[in-house]
Amino acid sequence: MDNRFDRPRGDGAPGAERDHRALTESVQWRALASHFRAVEGLTLRDLFDADPDRGVALAAEGGGLYLDYSKNRVTRETVRLLVDLARARGLEARRDAMFRGERINVTEDRPVLHVALRAPKGVAIVVDGRDVVLDVHAVLEQMAEFADRVRNGLWTGHTGKRIRTVINIGIGGSYLGPEMACRALRTFADPGIAVRFVANIDGEAFRAATADLDPAETLFIVCSKTFTTEETMANARAARQWCIAGLGTDAAVASHFVAVSTNAAEVARFGIDTARMFVFWDWVGGRYSLGSAVGLSLMIAIGPARFREMLAGFRDMDEHFCAAPLERNLPVLLGVLGIWYNNFFGMETQAILPYAHGLGRLPAYLEQLQMESNGKHVDIAGRPVAYDTGPIVWGEPGVDAQHSFYQLLHQGTKAIPCDLIGFCRSQADLPGHQDLLIANLLAQAEALAFGQSAARLAEQGVPAAQIPYRVCEGNRPTNVILGESLSPRTLGALVALYEHAVFTQGVVWGIDSFDQWGVELGKVLARRIATEIRGRAHEPAHDSSTRTLIGRYLARRVGG
Ligand code: F6P
Repeated sequence: MDNRFDRPRGDGAPGAERDHRALTESVQWRALASHFRAVEGLTLRDLFDADPDRGVALAAEGGGLYLDYSKNRVTRETVRLLVDLARARGLEARRDAMFRGERINVTEDRPVLHVALRAPKGVAIVVDGRDVVLDVHAVLEQMAEFADRVRNGLWTGHTGKRIRTVINIGIGGSYLGPEMACRALRTFADPGIAVRFVANIDGEAFRAATADLDPAETLFIVCSKTFTTEETMANARAARQWCIAGLGTDAAVASHFVAVSTNAAEVARFGIDTARMFVFWDWVGGRYSLGSAVGLSLMIAIGPARFREMLAGFRDMDEHFCAAPLERNLPVLLGVLGIWYNNFFGMETQAILPYAHGLGRLPAYLEQLQMESNGKHVDIAGRPVAYDTGPIVWGEPGVDAQHSFYQLLHQGTKAIPCDLIGFCRSQADLPGHQDLLIANLLAQAEALAFGQSAARLAEQGVPAAQIPYRVCEGNRPTNVILGESLSPRTLGALVALYEHAVFTQGVVWGIDSFDQWGVELGKVLARRIATEIRGRAHEPAHDSSTRTLIGRYLARRVGG
């Protein structure tokens, strides 16, 4: 297996030759590197044989979640060394700086305060002389009042009809969190109000979301931190036209549109009265914004009380992250284990495998959270990093995926660390189903860890010719995360667990986990090419591939 710790990145990444070695030359990194050489050959079978208690000892609890990390390719010493590294990289000081509201997002010169979104009343977090927790609670109350009016039928559409469908128009962080959470908490939702999402600029996304709807009963939430995102604004314009065409008057916009944004000027320019705007702040990153007004669609679905329960769950994990010793701290453990595989074993991906139907969109949500945060090639001082940063995160609901890509997990040539997430109680009480679901989760973790040897297959009478095909080497690492049930509170804790694990990794790698400059170039180029397509031409400056593709598209598009 490829390991990365003692060689510069040889991948031709820009600036790879200008090594920045502060991390990899630290005493703690070197200690891990030499420890890695000693333990890399140990199998999970060896580790369990040598330490019969590890299934109990290598586990921790916090925020209502139980993390069994015993089926990782680590010894107790590995964990100690990994935690030492995090400590030496200043994790605790940086965490405290975040919670105090310091400007730790240096490239955007902003505080990082999603944790303020779930701070209880009475806790003060001061930014530029202002207690932002007071602002947070004022917006929560505004959201609750509005959500209750929609839920009770007091907020009606232009013709006086009740709102039956809420459509959140937004993309990225202004969509993935509420969509994931609405699905996760569907059993808590008001059955009389459907919540849908339009993110993709493909016209089919808008058409499909509205095809069976009556504009008189539909409320749009235009959700965009900047209120300038092309996809969202195009969909919002389509929604306005659909609404006006359906209801016959521009005046309908007032009853059928609200906005969630940091940008009051653009909201007003679009034509939504800022009295119907729910604000958040530039210190909330889009991918960290579920607990802000971005969660308005979720609050309408599940009600303000349950939304507050979710915030309490976030807070449970925040408190655990701040108070628990690093050695028993769930986000820290998840974070450093990820570093162990990413940087020492050279495992490039990580799979998220929820064993709960409601968590079907959790992998997509965590893809943005983790990859937009930690997919960085320079450190916080702008120097190219000499080590790998964020892994490729992907996944699907586990039990479905067992019947598709788990083959590769068990017998492929790549080892992929997996997080298996499940609950002791189901949201739906179908006799026997939960037992079977959790049996599958546990069986997969066991099979991935211990596999099936040729000797065992022979004992079972498997014909010799088949044995090579049926051997499972095992030694594939997993974390098992177990909660009581998928409730608003547990969901909040689960999301905060990953937020802080991402934070932990970012601190160790010394990167800014809160900017996303990499997505900007594509936006600029898309704008330029859209202008060219509208003008039925292309700039000669494009490469021959882009030129040819634009030409082909122009010749074949509708009206081309
Ligand atoms: O393009 C990436 C991004 O900037 C994300 O970070 C963000 O969540 C998303 O676009 C949507 O941005 P906005 O909320 O400003 O529309």
